[in-house]
Amino acid sequence: MEKERNILYFESIDSTNVQAGREAANGAVSGTLVVADRQTAGRGRRGRTWESPAGRNLYFSLLLRPELAVEKASMLTLVMALAVVHALEKLTEADLSESSAKSKSPQIKWPNDIVLSGKKVCGILTEMSVLPNRIEHVIIGVGINVYQQEFAPGLADKATSLEAEWGQKLSRERLLGAVMDAFEEYYDLFLQMGDLKMLQNIYNHKLVNLNREVRVLDPKGEFTGIATGINERGELCVKLPDGQIAEVYAGEVSVRGIPGYV
Ligand code: BTN
Repeated sequence: MEKERNILYFESIDSTNVQAGREAANGAVSGTLVVADRQTAGRGRRGRTWESPAGRNLYFSLLLRPELAVEKASMLTLVMALAVVHALEKLTEADLSESSAKSKSPQIKWPNDIVLSGKKVCGILTEMSVLPNRIEHVIIGVGINVYQQEFAPGLADKATSLEAEWGQKLSRERLLGAVMDAFEEYYDLFLQMGDLKMLQNIYNHKLVNLNREVRVLDPKGEFTGIATGINERGELCVKLPDGQIAEVYAGEVSVRGIPGYV
């Protein structure tokens, strides 16, 4: 990854993803990081909003200009998910008592939610601008619930925060630094191969869905099967009752555990 660093901090912004898009339009370099304490119009996947109160959580967006085919952009989301898990593990090794860190280690719900004790603690939204044949830029937006204790009705049984689970205040600055360090490392490995070959095993090791029954909410028709891990393109491999393997592309599809969210 280019080592040039450009970090832009906002106390309050509509959305760090939107701001990163504005920066991109003004020619910002690859590697530009937009961070905010609060978002007034935080965006989630599938047109949802992302609750973004001040002083509680981490909201940031990384602008990249990779020379990649358009269909590979979604893999970057998985690279970021791995980086978040790695950073959380690293900080918890340093900061938490062994018992509390080990009993609640972060996992990935395919493709890119980070979960703790079965609840979502981090979401990632990747957006891109494309030229006819390739990516013009990609924005990877990350929201990590750090100190938030209360969630909107309807989210309370699905969302949690690091403090709620670990009972300890982690520094948001250190967490962000650790995520970026891990991302640089994983992004280099990703670019070397042009896919997730070198990261697939580490990812599968963190996959909460691994060897579990999942329901695939495909707009063309729902189905269930056993998740057997991701392939080198980041698709989720799902073993169907007839033994065939379906390779599920993240785009339009989401996955639920049986029963529940993970
Ligand atoms: C999801 O729905 O799981 C994705 C949530 C992504 C939220 C982050 S917060 C920082 C960045 N800016 C946004 O508006 N969204 C992402």
